[in-house]
Amino acid sequence: MCGIVGYTGSEQAKGIILDGLKKLEYRGYDSAGIALQNKEGILVRKKQGKIADLEAFIKGERLVGTTGIGHTRWATHGVPSDLNAHPHTSSDGEIAVVHNGIVENYVELRNRLIEKNNIKFDTETDTEVIAKLIGVLHRQNGGNLEDAVYDAVKEMSGAYAIGVVSSNEKDKIVAYRKDAPLIAGVGNGCKFIASDIPALLKYVNDICLIENDEMVVCTPDEVKIYDSSRRPVKRDIMKVNWSIEDAEKGGYEHFMLKEIYEQPKAVEETLLRRIGDDGKIKLDGISLTAEDVKNFSKVYIVACGTAYHAGMLGKYVIEKMARIPVEIDVASEFRYRNPVVDEKTLFIAISQSGETLDTLAALREAKRCGARILSICNVVGSSVARESDDVFYTWAGPEIAVASTKAYTTQLVCMYLIGLYLADLMGTISKEYYDGIVRELMVMPAKITEALKRSNEIEELAKHLYNRTQVFFIGRGVDSAVALEGSLKLKEISYINSFAIAAGELKHGTIALMEPETIVIAIATQDYLFDKMYSNIVEVKARMAHVVSIAKEGNTKIEKESTETIYIPDCADEVTPILSVVPLQLFAYYVAKIKGEDIDKPRNLAKSVTVE
Ligand code: G6P
Repeated sequence: MCGIVGYTGSEQAKGIILDGLKKLEYRGYDSAGIALQNKEGILVRKKQGKIADLEAFIKGERLVGTTGIGHTRWATHGVPSDLNAHPHTSSDGEIAVVHNGIVENYVELRNRLIEKNNIKFDTETDTEVIAKLIGVLHRQNGGNLEDAVYDAVKEMSGAYAIGVVSSNEKDKIVAYRKDAPLIAGVGNGCKFIASDIPALLKYVNDICLIENDEMVVCTPDEVKIYDSSRRPVKRDIMKVNWSIEDAEKGGYEHFMLKEIYEQPKAVEETLLRRIGDDGKIKLDGISLTAEDVKNFSKVYIVACGTAYHAGMLGKYVIEKMARIPVEIDVASEFRYRNPVVDEKTLFIAISQSGETLDTLAALREAKRCGARILSICNVVGSSVARESDDVFYTWAGPEIAVASTKAYTTQLVCMYLIGLYLADLMGTISKEYYDGIVRELMVMPAKITEALKRSNEIEELAKHLYNRTQVFFIGRGVDSAVALEGSLKLKEISYINSFAIAAGELKHGTIALMEPETIVIAIATQDYLFDKMYSNIVEVKARMAHVVSIAKEGNTKIEKESTETIYIPDCADEVTPILSVVPLQLFAYYVAKIKGEDIDKPRNLAKSVTVE
């Protein structure tokens, strides 16, 4: 999704803004641009393609200015092109605007500006409408930028964050947030705006979160925030303890590989923050009482993409341990389903970014129906986190690659911790079982490290399977949830058509697709389901499929029917997903690498989907 960066201070803004934009590349984009404020007015440069293309385009030009805004665009209205790239400007060129999100009533506003104000438009974008509208209002009010932005947003519907500069208000950036991410950065003699924290880490660690319907006005010495009625708002500064290294590749060829290898640390961090020295799970800051939990008639888990797959494990875990019925849905379906949710529902939203628009909208729908909202988020202070009754943070650190890896494994850990916590309050599990699963979880960081040691084997596998056009993932029980995630990883970054199905369902249709040498990745880690799974492997093997099995160390029986077997360290059935996903992530990574794909920024995908 689009990324915004703005800087005002005493240094030249161009390099600082481009640095920031590079840190937002992970969000996915197809063009980039900057606007600088200087003696000559507002100077805009923009280019289709990567930030490197923009840099090449402006190379050799002396672009001066100590205040400016920049943007990476992920096309929604209008194709990716130089013209449609942001910033867009007012008709007189005095105002430049960058924008993330969608203005839903832009056609209406555009027609009105054409008819009433005789404005000419060069593009089909909704952002140009914002720029022209602010321009008209700015002229009408005698040239006050803050007034013009306030008046403009009153007329705009949709979800958006905008950053605006004007040639006649020096050293000032005005920004507004409505349902799209926006933060301000506080430095000594310099201030910033951005869509996400990594854009600012090189320069500042002090952040102000901007809430919905707030305007932020940055000058080199001050960040001023106002609410929707223009009352000044006092906002505490949040110290971000991520370092710039956390947001950089640190010697790895890709962020995805780095993040796969960061999983032991991320899982450990998530566990240590929630498991006390006495081995008890402490959900500090989460105010669920035994009475609340006993009152819930069901749990509803809602999420998108990888987070949804973590939620599928949540269903298995919570139902098995706490014996509370769990429904699970993708957010884009839930929000329009008229779901059966009330004050007896515990609604769990899972979102790495905490900014996914569908998840946020689903959360609001559940809240409207009276549900208790618990969210699982990685980004502190994100929209999903802020709108929830309780938040369970994953401590994965910044995840940059579009394909989620470490956020997923930490989300899995949260599912176990929540399952055990609810079960304990419900009295549905014994102390031995509780302690046993906690012990299994605590050794996961070391076991993930073990699983990662098999990466050479997986790279070899990728070398001889990378040119296949179709791959099937099968599993039973929790393995079927992992199969979905393995399949998503492969299709996201290698563009191979992959498909996941519960193994028992194969014979009801999908088995018709088995041909000699069809690749089937069979996840077979559940001891209690092993015989069933073995029969499914035999079935596809009988159709001459090439079967790659993922099994627990020591389970050599599986080798008989498998073309290849990848072992994960032995562990309890319940917790295998934390380990079995590791070879699948590595497999997707190596296949994509051998194919020469853009692993961290796969085509057509965005890290944080802030539009419907
Ligand atoms: C996008 C990303 C996925 C992610 C999904 C949900 O589709 O490409 O990697 O799983 O959004 O994102 P969230 O931030 O809500 O977990």
